[in-house]
Amino acid sequence: MQKEEAKLEIQKLSEEIKKHDDLYYNKSAPIISDHEYDLLRKRLRFLEETFPELDAVDSPSHNVGPAKLASFLKVSHKTPMLSLDNAFNKNDMLSFVDKVSKFLGTSTTDIAFCAEQKIDGLSASIIYKNGRLNVAATRGNGYVGEDITSNIVTIKNIPSEITTKKEIVEIRGEVYMPISSFESLNKARNNDGKSEFATARNAASGSLRQLDPSVTASRNLSFFAYYIDDDSYIYQTDILESLRSMGFSVADFETCSNINEIMVSYEKMKQARSSLDYEIDGAVFKVNDLRYQKRLGYSGRSPRHSIAFKFPDEEFRTLVLDIEFSVGRTGVITPVAILEPVNISGVIVLRSSLHNFDEIKRLDIRVGDTVLLKRSGDVIPKIVAVVKEKTAKRAAPLELPRVCPSCGSPLHKNRCINRSSCRDQIVQYMIYFVSRPCFNIEGLGKQQVKDLYKAGILNNPIDIFNLKDFPIHSVKGFGVLSARKLLDSIEKSKRLPLSKFITSLGIEQIGEISASVLAMRFGDVENLMKASIEELQEIDGIGTTIASEVYNFFRNASNTEFVKRLLTYVTIEQENNVGQSAEVQPGKFSGKTIVFTGKLNKITRKEAKQQAVNLGARVSSSISENTDYLVVGEKPGSKLSKAEQVDGITIITEDEWLEEMAKI
Ligand code: IVH
Repeated sequence: MQKEEAKLEIQKLSEEIKKHDDLYYNKSAPIISDHEYDLLRKRLRFLEETFPELDAVDSPSHNVGPAKLASFLKVSHKTPMLSLDNAFNKNDMLSFVDKVSKFLGTSTTDIAFCAEQKIDGLSASIIYKNGRLNVAATRGNGYVGEDITSNIVTIKNIPSEITTKKEIVEIRGEVYMPISSFESLNKARNNDGKSEFATARNAASGSLRQLDPSVTASRNLSFFAYYIDDDSYIYQTDILESLRSMGFSVADFETCSNINEIMVSYEKMKQARSSLDYEIDGAVFKVNDLRYQKRLGYSGRSPRHSIAFKFPDEEFRTLVLDIEFSVGRTGVITPVAILEPVNISGVIVLRSSLHNFDEIKRLDIRVGDTVLLKRSGDVIPKIVAVVKEKTAKRAAPLELPRVCPSCGSPLHKNRCINRSSCRDQIVQYMIYFVSRPCFNIEGLGKQQVKDLYKAGILNNPIDIFNLKDFPIHSVKGFGVLSARKLLDSIEKSKRLPLSKFITSLGIEQIGEISASVLAMRFGDVENLMKASIEELQEIDGIGTTIASEVYNFFRNASNTEFVKRLLTYVTIEQENNVGQSAEVQPGKFSGKTIVFTGKLNKITRKEAKQQAVNLGARVSSSISENTDYLVVGEKPGSKLSKAEQVDGITIITEDEWLEEMAKI
């Protein structure tokens, strides 16, 4: 072969490999097999070795992967992006209004609400620096999102510059895909033989989370703004008007001053729904006075000042073909109804989880029944009732299993406790263990976990960290490239924050939020393992059930053995404090444990607790050695006498507490 010929081929191969790298790493859409890709690289290496003078420094043959990482950068939200509580009927709204006024100590008629449409899209945060669009992020887990700046700038109705006096200003709102754009996108995808998006929201999500901004730009996304972080506003309605004058699109809104006006506003939005070119799935009602909003604060993951009043669910009917029992990652047995396929807004539904045995009894579902399915928003449809009149001869009531359908061991309270050798339980746990909220191992999907388990390579999660000793590339479904990508991801996953480590243990009832609470309270695994049931119970946000699940988990020898072995592979990083209330101000009460007792007269107990949390304190419901302050109201009860017997507890009255608050 002549040098000229080789030069041309090297050029072609380099371009080809770069294209496949991009498709594989950035678009997650490879179009050739790993084997074919390896052949391209081999050929390129061969030519470069034969003609060393043609071996360019930037040849893709020198790269292990692409220059650009196949994921988005992470952005911490200055204040968490939480979610709204839902209301489904007038009663729920009445109790929302009632709670708000009780908290504030006002009459229900003193509070005005701003009524907005609930846009069915994806929330986004956009930061402007000196009036110029600087960073944009997805909601992510509420505390940390993904940097989607280059995609957000392609959305036409988002201004790249705004007039503002503040150096840094954050705007929040909803990115959505207009229904007309969604329909034409699906038509085009259908013509190209590509799969259609099930909902406009899915299409918006897929379009926003693109590593190539030109794809986002071609998708005609749009944005409605509803929030700005600027203390100088007094009303939510002022914020919305101001956002409009800054150049943002703002969906229709109005104010309501009582429950009747709330209901009228809700009905109006429901009527308008079908004439809009975007999906709305309810109305949002926000306390209009932002000073009240601030006082109301948050409870768990939702603000107390706002609520989403959802539109009624869509209903569908279908036939129950069978009822199966599946074993979950914590051994809980869940009945699953196998359905006659039904098309629900473009999604073919084949199964529906029945959650637990009581649900089967309550609904009295039997094989052969016609059932009513309900769906709200993106949620998978749920069976809500048996359609009696449609049911002819009914099958016998279902026999509930006494033994685990996977390993045959006897069930304890509908739970298989054979954690160490129940096949389905182990596989489900491993799938959970590698998922995003846990070790976040890329390249190890459900199917791969199942295949590697079947092949006897993965028998428990610890084996994942020894995969490097196996020729994984020779296992069905893997190639050199995917095996390398997997091992890289496993290596990376070994450094993780404590909260993720706790989430990964798969303790029943412990999800990301409770795990973060535990991580912040105990600081390291050893302290958590040693925690007494009392210590666990007194943590605000950890109920008695969760406390005993955690306590019992660490009293089981095979669990503690597993944790200890796991710790030999991983490095626990300093906890990232983004999960804490962003309004924490270090001060007299930061890190202190405060207990309230008795009736407070000047503010409600809830508001006092919120003040304490805002100051970085921990609010506990019982007195212990860890208590620092007891705030005493009227008729204090036994907590006061208990506190008097424990050393080091400062007892203060409601007035003294309010004086402290006034100093801040
Ligand atoms: S206010 C604490 N206003 O609904 C969250 N949200 O769970 C405050 N949404 O995540 C959000 N339209 O993505 C607000 N007019 C509106 C909204 C809206 C849609 C979304 C948002 C939020 C979810 C509620």
